[in-house]
Amino acid sequence: MSEFKFFLITDTHYFAEKLGCRGEAYNDFMRYEQKCFAETQKINEAAFRFLNDTDLADTVLIAGDLSFNGEKESHLGFIELLKDLKAHGKRIFVITAGHDWNDHPFAFDETGRLEPEGTKREELFDLYYEYGFSDAIAVDKENLSYVAQLAPGLRLLALNNDGDCKKNHTYTARQIEWILRQTKKAREDGETLIAMSHYPLLPGVPLFGLLGGEVVMKNADFITTLLADEGVHLCFTGHMHNQAVNVKVTEKGNRFYDVCTGSLIGCPASMRLVTITDNDLVQLQTLPVPDFDWDMEGLSKDEYFKRQFDMMINTYLTSMRDDPDRFLRKLGVRDAADGVLNLVSKLGAYLNSATVGKVCRLFHTPCDESIKDMLFVDLARSLVRNAFTGNAPYVYGTPEYEAVMGVFGRMRPLFSVLNKTVKMNGKPVDMMELLEKTIGKYGLNDDNAAFRLK
Ligand SMILES: [Fe+2]
Ligand SMILES: [Fe+2]
Repeated sequence: MSEFKFFLITDTHYFAEKLGCRGEAYNDFMRYEQKCFAETQKINEAAFRFLNDTDLADTVLIAGDLSFNGEKESHLGFIELLKDLKAHGKRIFVITAGHDWNDHPFAFDETGRLEPEGTKREELFDLYYEYGFSDAIAVDKENLSYVAQLAPGLRLLALNNDGDCKKNHTYTARQIEWILRQTKKAREDGETLIAMSHYPLLPGVPLFGLLGGEVVMKNADFITTLLADEGVHLCFTGHMHNQAVNVKVTEKGNRFYDVCTGSLIGCPASMRLVTITDNDLVQLQTLPVPDFDWDMEGLSKDEYFKRQFDMMINTYLTSMRDDPDRFLRKLGVRDAADGVLNLVSKLGAYLNSATVGKVCRLFHTPCDESIKDMLFVDLARSLVRNAFTGNAPYVYGTPEYEAVMGVFGRMRPLFSVLNKTVKMNGKPVDMMELLEKTIGKYGLNDDNAAFRLK
């Protein structure tokens, strides 16, 4: 029996604190932010201290978004941590992603927004050469991708997918040809191939599947079928900063698992310890990020991360009422008419004051006593947060399920139109099923799943 263990972390978003992360403009920016910012250097330092010292595994995979937003100083600081990790005898395999190159990153101090030096995508190969490329058995330099031998019989296909520099987030045609050469070679050599790619290939929760290219990689349905049918049944992803384990089965009967891991520096802040036995049985164990040196104002680490996440959701909900223009701009809707702004503001005022019971009454659907006095925004906030922390708890039979699905049930006429017009992977969606499986998790455990590849 062979057993191989490794750590998987992602979205480390290291920010060199000396660049500046303070002041009024910083505080305003953070109101809309899920990620910690000023804290990230200390969080990364603590996580790497743990990885340096642990004897649970000697290999660390990092799935991209290494720096906060491509600041050169942040990369240099992060690379110092990688150097130290390597000096502790660990093997490291990283990929880069969209937040690792940027001509206009930012920082903040009391004077407002600052513009530190950025990093060009062409610089990333040399910067991270020692942390994947140098140890690879095949390299696609143009696409910052490589294959590495993780253990006897087990290879890693490390795939970057922002090669067009337009953030279209997909593999280029030439990269797909290269991938196919690697899968063929692995089959010929009798090797199992697993992948790491930054952008999710399966939606973390079904609703994410409707949200487009920033959430799930463009043409992911085609890619996942291709990979699974070529013998790549597992991919570790990040980017969405959520915990999720999902599987799809291709028409040929091949399984494809996407294991998406939360960011190191924002709720749900987590790391995974992965065990692969006989190059087939995969066991995932989720660990919290270690304690880090920061004044958390009396909160636990989890509460501290959650407070930042909830502040972001609260800001969206209250700005809907108080600043509908900014709310719509944050959602990417520019120059809304006054009538729309008034409507959004009124809807925001209602939602920010209504209880769950009141909303249920409006939709003529029953509401359990235990949640009828809960503020609707509190329920909305937990619905969103659960989609990110994984293992969403509002499954069939819970009061929240009954209330939420009851309200959605009253929207069936609208959904029947959407079912005919909205398509996911070219197939019509069932909106009720999609919402039901978003508010409650029925499949694999998002934190600690175990499954076989074949
Ligand atoms: Fe990220
Ligand atoms: Fe990302």
